[in-house]
Amino acid sequence: METIRNRRILSGIQPSGALHIGNYFGAIRQHIALQEQNECYYFVANYHALTSITQKERLEEYSFMVAVDYLALGLDPQKATLFLQSDVPEVTELAWILSTRTPMGLLERAHSYKDKLARGLSPNHGLFAYPVLMAADILIYDSELVPVGKDQKQHLEMTRDIALKFNNTYGETLTLPEELILPEMAVVPGIDGQKMSKSYDNTIEMFSDYQNLKARVMSIVTDSTPLEVPKDPDKSTIYQLYKLFSSPEEASEMREKFLAGGYGYGHAKKALLEKIWTYFEPHRQRLEELLQNRDFVLDVLRKGARTARAKAASVMSRVREACGILRA
Ligand code: ADP
Ligand code: TRP
Repeated sequence: METIRNRRILSGIQPSGALHIGNYFGAIRQHIALQEQNECYYFVANYHALTSITQKERLEEYSFMVAVDYLALGLDPQKATLFLQSDVPEVTELAWILSTRTPMGLLERAHSYKDKLARGLSPNHGLFAYPVLMAADILIYDSELVPVGKDQKQHLEMTRDIALKFNNTYGETLTLPEELILPEMAVVPGIDGQKMSKSYDNTIEMFSDYQNLKARVMSIVTDSTPLEVPKDPDKSTIYQLYKLFSSPEEASEMREKFLAGGYGYGHAKKALLEKIWTYFEPHRQRLEELLQNRDFVLDVLRKGARTARAKAASVMSRVREACGILRA
């Protein structure tokens, strides 16, 4: 990763389920690395998750757990600002204002919306307007860089489009963010071989217990090539995942075994399972400590919200002023 310094960085993660290794390699790992030399804002996108979660206990629990996971994985609240999206209500205000500058056609072209339709989810307005809220999340902190996985690239482009439309109408007001899609942020496949996603029930969670982890890894979909026949590692989800957790030498060792034949998918799954389990071991211990100390986590979120809100309030007054929202 090239060194990134002294930038205002923002990213959000939806609490729509337990976080998984796609979120980790696609986003969280880089978020945490960036805290060292930048001004970082990371938030739990609970308003976004409302588009898909209607059970209140689940939304609360997942929101809390996203914060716990970030802290367990190394987010340092002294260095980065971690908060809940809903603790900065200005963001929904900005979303409304931006929606008045957002063409319908722009939203109709959104891949994530179209994908969800194609999967048979019945769309609500929140899902359709999702990119507008996301634009508000980004623009309200004058964010300069937004590190996300490839799947979010279009949402970033939409954010820039919306900000440009606003600036064209009202004059230079909003800071246009840049996307930060790092090479490591390749799309991590799920157990069915498609993009791993909480919404597709194909995830491998970072912090599930061993039995659960084992069940997920063992259910990675494979073809029916017999054990003795050589296999193409590049077509195997197991190998794609194994590469993420292993050194280049270990990865090429598995690669050779695939190509040589006599190595079954079951063997490869066992190797992957052990890798995942040991990789997260130290973080699992920290997670246990955090779960014993709920107040500490809530306090981190409260302090984060205070910092984030101060910034949001100043951008919002600039925006209100720019578009003629009278204050009484
Ligand atoms: P999900 O699709 O599981 O709901 P989110 O949309 O909340 O995940 O994504 C949170 C972050 O993790 C985003 O930056 C996203 O790009 C990244 N991410 C999610 N799934 C993957 C994946 N399979 N591979 C790489 N990055 C991913
Ligand atoms: N849409 C993002 C995702 O599903 C989550 C998100 C919401 C986000 N608001 C954001 C990411 C602002 C970056 C910046 O992954």
